[in-house]
Amino acid sequence: MMWHTSLGAAAAVFSLLTSQVVGREDVQIEPQTAQIVSTKGVILDTILDWNDAARLDHTTYNGQKYGCKCYPGRPCWPSANKWNSLNRTVDGTLHVNVPAGAVCHNTFDGPFGTIQTYDEAACADAKENFVNEQWTVEKPADGLWTYFTNDTCRPTSNPSDPCTLGSYGVYVIMATKASHIQAGVNFARQNNLRLIVRNTGHDFLGRSVGYGSLIINTHSFQSLKWTDKYTGPGSYRGPAVTMGAGVQGGDILKAGHALNPPMALVTGECATVGLSGGFIQGGGHGPWTTLKGLAVDNVLNFEVITASGLIVNANEWQNPDLFIALRGGGPASYGVILSTTVKTFPDLPAAGATLYLNATHTSDNEVIWVGTKIFHKYANHFVDNGLYVYFEIFPNQFRVRPFVAIGKSQVQLQDILRPMLDEFAAARIPYEAAFMEFPTFYDLYIDLFEAEKAGQTALTGGWMFNHDDVANRNDEIIAAMKNVVSPAGRPDLFGGMVGHLFNPGHNVPVSTSAAHPAWRNATDFVIAVLPSPEHPSLAVKKDLQNVLTNNMDEGFRNASRSGATYVNEADPFQPNWQSHFWGSNYPRLKQLRKKWDPLGVFYAVSTPGTEDWEEIEFNTRLCKKL
Ligand SMILES: Cc1cc2nc3c(=O)[nH]c(=O)nc-3n(C[C@H](O)[C@H](O)[C@H](O)COP(=O)(O)OP(=O)(O)OC[C@H]3O[C@@H](n4cnc5c(N)ncnc54)[C@H](O)[C@@H]3O)c2cc1C
Ligand SMILES: *[C@@H]1O[C@H](CO)[C@@H](O)[C@H](O)[C@H]1NC(C)=O
Ligand SMILES: *[C@@H]1O[C@H](CO)[C@@H](O)[C@H](O)[C@H]1NC(C)=O
Ligand SMILES: *[C@@H]1O[C@H](CO)[C@@H](O)[C@H](O)[C@H]1NC(C)=O
Ligand SMILES: *[C@@H]1O[C@H](CO)[C@@H](O)[C@H](O)[C@H]1NC(C)=O
Ligand SMILES: *[C@@H]1O[C@H](CO)[C@@H](O)[C@H](O)[C@H]1NC(C)=O
Repeated sequence: MMWHTSLGAAAAVFSLLTSQVVGREDVQIEPQTAQIVSTKGVILDTILDWNDAARLDHTTYNGQKYGCKCYPGRPCWPSANKWNSLNRTVDGTLHVNVPAGAVCHNTFDGPFGTIQTYDEAACADAKENFVNEQWTVEKPADGLWTYFTNDTCRPTSNPSDPCTLGSYGVYVIMATKASHIQAGVNFARQNNLRLIVRNTGHDFLGRSVGYGSLIINTHSFQSLKWTDKYTGPGSYRGPAVTMGAGVQGGDILKAGHALNPPMALVTGECATVGLSGGFIQGGGHGPWTTLKGLAVDNVLNFEVITASGLIVNANEWQNPDLFIALRGGGPASYGVILSTTVKTFPDLPAAGATLYLNATHTSDNEVIWVGTKIFHKYANHFVDNGLYVYFEIFPNQFRVRPFVAIGKSQVQLQDILRPMLDEFAAARIPYEAAFMEFPTFYDLYIDLFEAEKAGQTALTGGWMFNHDDVANRNDEIIAAMKNVVSPAGRPDLFGGMVGHLFNPGHNVPVSTSAAHPAWRNATDFVIAVLPSPEHPSLAVKKDLQNVLTNNMDEGFRNASRSGATYVNEADPFQPNWQSHFWGSNYPRLKQLRKKWDPLGVFYAVSTPGTEDWEEIEFNTRLCKKL
């Protein structure tokens, strides 16, 4: 039986590896010896046992048998010699992970003992900058949204406060070369370690942190290569850019703006989000999306390190199934992206507007909601006219900053907004609005989009409303939004929302990506934010999760027929996440996951094929049900 299982898994990997066009050379698996062998006969790797039951670290928890990843303190944990040898392979870039807040604490109590960490100057810096996104991005492993880190080492004015690792990884490779990433993937696979890939640390769902893991940091991969005429695999021959895995949205827009003529591409609204990590593997929406589609509609090629540690290309011609999976099929699931090549296009003049309606304008909260309802009624009208709109709703405040009209004049934008403003006037809704015009979208972007904050502790949910929802159920949508701000039966809690009006179907040919097909009818994608206290007990966490899933988000789901939400900006513990994130694409993605990562080297919560995995013992050890 065991032999049968082993052979089955090996055979699956055999067909996977032989079908790859490998960057360096083709490879195959020898089923008898479980060796990965190159066509030139070089043994690249030996997998001792393909069988989960034999490979994983066994435990029983709540009466269920599990096979777990290996953790510090377990007999399977690699020896100091092995770690030293890994460190040599990665040119000394392996570090013990210490959270950024440790400099404000006398000691950091890590898995390998206690070290002195207090540093007055560094602590002052940490206290000032903990909310600064870029400051945190540049740390080896810290998360910007701290809820899923377990928040066990925030900067403090009381150095005797404890500082522990919480849900962070124990070692981090600050990779500067592809071979460092390969070594990390191979080490994690061979030693059954939990592996985390960390790019910028923006993830809302905690997918760039992982208890007891080995982390690979990809932030150093900052290369940019622009071309006027792409000549790579596939039929596209227009302008493109190849970017290293660590490149962030704001930096590449800035570099594109410096070209002659200025060039642009689909990025998120947030300047500090990375493009080749979660953003692309989740789908990627941003200010250009109504005109150019999701980020994944624009990808030409990925250079990827697979779970077997090999470098392959994925594009229309080479490994086309991996190409589909990486375009929206879920982050940290199929491989580590080394570089991404995407279409670029000339930047255009743009018009923008802002709209505020808050306690400055009225003391009657209901007036704010009437205005919000009028605004939202026009959401289809806005995206059908090619706009992207970013708005926020928090207690007693509604604001749109900004309306984005790329390729349009201020007069054209005023015409598009006029019916809404006329209705505000008729309903006596007070507000403040402003219109502007810019020589390029980039100038608008710099002027009207604002930096967001790191260090926030909150749960996030969210839902997509399509054209039909907005046209036929706007009142229900607004009622659901009110329920996020003031959840039913919970006067002790409040929430807020960040909304994005866009339609990736507008003018865009439907691409064969993994993104949920329902995006093509999207009008509004709304993130729900539920703030958490800084050190919630397990009971408080359970309560907040219940409010998010079964109160706030359920209200959204009830108001909508879209059946869809965004894997990067949603509750990972919602029911039916498979169909909500991927719709009819899910079964295919689950197969591709099994094909490209048969051993479960990668893991991120609620991604294809992770149904049997669970973080047991209060969200610590990652284990598979056996
Ligand atoms: C303030 C803010 C604004 C945002 N705005 C937008 C927006 O406008 N549009 C939008 O679509 N999304 C937006 N997002 C969501 C964003 O896309 C996700 O948070 C995304 O996961 C961030 O990816 P990252 O690689 O920068 O972050 P990380 O947290 O470092 O990584 C996220 C995930 O990607 C994996 N990953 C990272 N690098 C790699 C790699 N090289 N190969 C394989 N896997 C990798 C990680 O393991 C993790 O699972 C926003 C998020 C925040 C916090
Ligand atoms: C890895 O090697 C470098 C350079 O020799 C060293 O500074 C670092 O402490 C080592 N890392 C670990 C985890 O031992
Ligand atoms: C995480 O926080 C909870 C309290 O919410 C605590 O009980 C648990 O021990 C913490 N786990 C880790 C690994 O820090
Ligand atoms: C309220 O609107 C005004 C503009 O009229 C703006 O300056 C202010 O920041 C807004 N307040 C909030 C809390 O959003
Ligand atoms: C988009 O909406 C139209 C009209 O409601 C519907 O016929 C179509 O199936 C939808 N497309 C997708 C991809 O959901
Ligand atoms: C959602 O709809 C169900 C069924 O009608 C209802 O029981 C539930 O209370 C609704 N939830 C919310 C939060 O509105």
